[in-house]
Amino acid sequence: MSQKYAAVKGMNDLLPPDIAVWQHVERTARKTLLRYGFHEIRTPIVEDTALFVRSVGEGTDIVGKEMYTFDDKGGRSITLRPEGTASAARAYIEHAMHQKEAVTRWFYMGPMFRYERMKTGRYRQFYQLGVEAYGVAEPAQDVEVMECVMHWLQELGLKDVKLQVNSLGDETCRPAFAARVKEYFEAHREQLSPDALETLSKNPLRLFDSKEEALKPLIAKAPILFDSLDDASRNHFTEVTRQLSMLGVPYELNPRLVRGLDYYTRTVFEFIAADPVLGTASAVGGGGRYDNLISELGGPKTPAVGFAMGLDRLALLLNGRSDALQHRPDLFLVSVDAAAHDEVMRLARSLRHQGLAVEFDARAGSVKSQMKRADKSRAMYALVLGEKELAEQKGNLKPMREELPAREVQLEDLARVLKGLG
Ligand code: HAM
Repeated sequence: MSQKYAAVKGMNDLLPPDIAVWQHVERTARKTLLRYGFHEIRTPIVEDTALFVRSVGEGTDIVGKEMYTFDDKGGRSITLRPEGTASAARAYIEHAMHQKEAVTRWFYMGPMFRYERMKTGRYRQFYQLGVEAYGVAEPAQDVEVMECVMHWLQELGLKDVKLQVNSLGDETCRPAFAARVKEYFEAHREQLSPDALETLSKNPLRLFDSKEEALKPLIAKAPILFDSLDDASRNHFTEVTRQLSMLGVPYELNPRLVRGLDYYTRTVFEFIAADPVLGTASAVGGGGRYDNLISELGGPKTPAVGFAMGLDRLALLLNGRSDALQHRPDLFLVSVDAAAHDEVMRLARSLRHQGLAVEFDARAGSVKSQMKRADKSRAMYALVLGEKELAEQKGNLKPMREELPAREVQLEDLARVLKGLG
């Protein structure tokens, strides 16, 4: 008996017709990001394991539990990228971008891998669109990237997504805050699970990011970082929120927002969808400022801010639009006999070269079966060619969807007529 193969658990095939939504999301992103002057980069899907450990942070779930890490045949430890910021930072440093330009603005799209517990909107291979802006420390850069996401979501017609913002301070004020948080949770040790106790000993701020229901009431009463911000971080955040308001970008303050990665400094933000289709996987994207990452990875001190959106989740939100987004050929050609089939092939070739989307059934077969296929192709028009049509060099364009009358057309005029109709 032959073995049956299936995709690896948590990894999905993307097939037509559903892929139309993905293409729409990606097309809209490219169009929007170009308006903002972001340029696409493509980095390898695997990197040295150490890059992610150093960037994302040893105490995070991603590094601790979720990475696809293995030795290659040369005995090097490599990891399927769990996110894109570390790879982009590595590329920024490796290509000495700071020597080439004062400000670098990149975006990337592609698969990421995290060995997570699966559910709707959470997969082991998932897709992100990420943006990273290097070289600007000013709040205006944080605001521009957030505003850019809101613009893209608006272009997609996704109005019910909320922007939540917070500040995590920086190395000058965060240690004191971490100590306060540690003290607070220490005082409630008896309510903590073994997992939570371990997080407390390694990185207490990570407790804010815990998925444990039992911790929620405790988190709700924990100290708030905002109260511990030093003047520089506080001013930065005040300016970020002022500029968001100035531009009319709606946002909410979420003082408990810490994000699941260690590299952030100051501003952090998430985009939360209200649509119940996502269940608890309601964060469609997130990001923030990370002013120390480039220098921690061996580059020059370079301020940076960016975000990544989860394309799987955006596609789920847009699923209902799949039908309207399907590709529709301009014409489906149908042949009555073998001579007409040759003409169908010739005509299809010529019309395609003139920029039209034309399909036919290479198996030919009965007119009835070809018409069925024409219907399935969702073509705007069908044209049946037989002896009479070939002799007269004209035929009847039959509308396939709309209730329009058929119209007679000279075959040599076909391209012009279809372009006029389209
Ligand atoms: P992140 O919050 O880990 O941030 O991921 C960003 C988005 O990717 C999430 O909001 C979610 O929509 C999607 N996502 C994450 N994990 C999964 C999963 N298992 N299945 C489906 N979707 C998922 C980052 O990755 C940072 N690199 C963002 C960033 C860029 N910060 C600065 N620059």
